[in-house]
Amino acid sequence: MTVHAIQTVHSENAQRLVILGTGGTIAGRAAQAGDNVGYVAGQVSVGDLVAAVPTLKELCLDVEQVAQLDSKDMGFSVWKALAARVAFHLERPDVKGLVITHGTDTLEETAFFLQSVLKPTKPVVLTCAMRPATALVPDGPQNLSDAVAVARHTDAQGVVVVCAGQVHCADDVTKVHTYRLDAFDSGDAGPLGCVEEGAVRLFRPWPLALAAGYVDASIHARVQASLALPRVVMLTSHADMDGLMVEALLAQSDSGAAQPLRGIVVAGTGNGTLHKDLEAALLKAQAQGIRVVLTSRCIRGRVLTHLGQRLSEVSGLSPVKSRIALALALLAD
Ligand code: SIN
Repeated sequence: MTVHAIQTVHSENAQRLVILGTGGTIAGRAAQAGDNVGYVAGQVSVGDLVAAVPTLKELCLDVEQVAQLDSKDMGFSVWKALAARVAFHLERPDVKGLVITHGTDTLEETAFFLQSVLKPTKPVVLTCAMRPATALVPDGPQNLSDAVAVARHTDAQGVVVVCAGQVHCADDVTKVHTYRLDAFDSGDAGPLGCVEEGAVRLFRPWPLALAAGYVDASIHARVQASLALPRVVMLTSHADMDGLMVEALLAQSDSGAAQPLRGIVVAGTGNGTLHKDLEAALLKAQAQGIRVVLTSRCIRGRVLTHLGQRLSEVSGLSPVKSRIALALALLAD
């Protein structure tokens, strides 16, 4: 993947921000302006997205295209390149903070990855859009303008997400809607704040520099030294579930797979309950040294441990974030 040259857009104001582009619907293009769903994500350059927002004209911005993809295809190689560029810019004394344009589909995963790996003391604000850049009324320009307002806020720190006027913490945010412009929710925690006419109103403190999760302080160096994350798969318990997928994963790992299975995150029903056949297979995997982490497929709440629980590891994060947290923990082992 190519990391493009930094383009300095404006230079009058001392408070420098860096805008990194990674693609997504915010950079999407449709054949017809009225089409909000039949578009190709990751087409418009981040330089053009910035140039389309009049409120950014007076600011001192460095703009850089790190990737250009539909975020359904997000993966470790892009995360690694992105973390390297974010870390590079965070260390520049003249940089106040960063904004990253990103697709909505895996936005919460990238935000959680960056928060876990970098725990930045400056703001790193991910933003997105539900409508392509070519829409009759695109939402990307307002989201980008709001994200910049958050990155410029005096006390801002940590990785946050800005969408539809709301600010969400990386640890809490989840995409909850397929189509609506306010597609994100922070569950029981609620949003961190909101942006109203360019002013940030906070409901609770900025994220701590330390992430919830398993990672240690040297994790960024380990990420940069690695070709892939340890293999952790995610399964969901449901009616008629069985243990066949777990058995197949164990058999494949036993037969010398290129990337051996190291962990399984299972999204249980309700308070982490599992179909008995799936649970039996997971206990077998756990006995063979595979890390098995129990989460819930419920959109709100967390798994509360109880007497008689047979899987030893439980996570209060969503299943997709638990997968990242476990993979990073295994990387740090
Ligand atoms: C993507 O995630 O890249 C496409 C979908 C979106 O951004 O809404």
